[in-house]
Amino acid sequence: MTSELKHNPADNVKRFDDAAADWEEKPLRVVLARKVAGAIRQAIPLAATMRVLEYGCGTGMVSRALSPHVAQIMAVDTSPQMLEVLRRKAGEEKIINIETLVHDLTSEPLPDKGFDLVMSSMTLHHIPDIEALLPRFLAILKPGGYLAVADLVTEDGSFHEDNTGVAHQGINPEAVRTILAKNGGLDIGVQEIHTIEKPGANSAAVRKYPVFLAWCRKG
Ligand SMILES: C[S@@+](CC[C@H](N)C(=O)[O-])C[C@H]1O[C@@H](n2cnc3c(N)ncnc32)[C@H](O)[C@@H]1O
Repeated sequence: MTSELKHNPADNVKRFDDAAADWEEKPLRVVLARKVAGAIRQAIPLAATMRVLEYGCGTGMVSRALSPHVAQIMAVDTSPQMLEVLRRKAGEEKIINIETLVHDLTSEPLPDKGFDLVMSSMTLHHIPDIEALLPRFLAILKPGGYLAVADLVTEDGSFHEDNTGVAHQGINPEAVRTILAKNGGLDIGVQEIHTIEKPGANSAAVRKYPVFLAWCRKG
């Protein structure tokens, strides 16, 4: 699943840096992160011993929600400003088991592996080559570790007001299932977990965008 849409990683960093301070002001993002965290807890048996990596963590809403249920979380993003907000909010919430790392796994390997869970929410649609990224997630898991990715189901391009930096207009969850299976993922699950609703312009009908979670275990 490689995207032909125009994509410039440096522009993406600037765009998310600029959005970081107000990221959690949009209630739909907060609600979605809560749903994703809840769905991960349902799909995966979290344990107090687990080392977790969240990829494209943004301000860390999913990591912060799951932090009481695992040992340690490495929160990874290419936007330093997103991670700055994460550290501030984690401090305010007295969370001490999240560390942050500016890193782009699409261009260089992660200097760490052996995670029990790798998770990612709403980030895959910004990554041009998902077929290359998902095996990299699996590679940094321990045998028996879990992968969980959430994103928009394929949409008509109307989700983002501006599609600059968007590599995929949503993702076909069955394509994710196929990639996971091809790379040795076991016990694969795919489920719609939420629908984002956005008001239509000029009193047009509400637009609905389903969100899926796909998960598997590393063999
Ligand atoms: C739509 S935001 C989602 C943030 C967060 N997961 C959430 O649900 O609120 C996408 C995030 O992915 C990050 N991102 C984009 N491309 C990335 C890459 N190649 N590597 C790591 N993070 C990336 C962005 O900086 C941004 O924080």
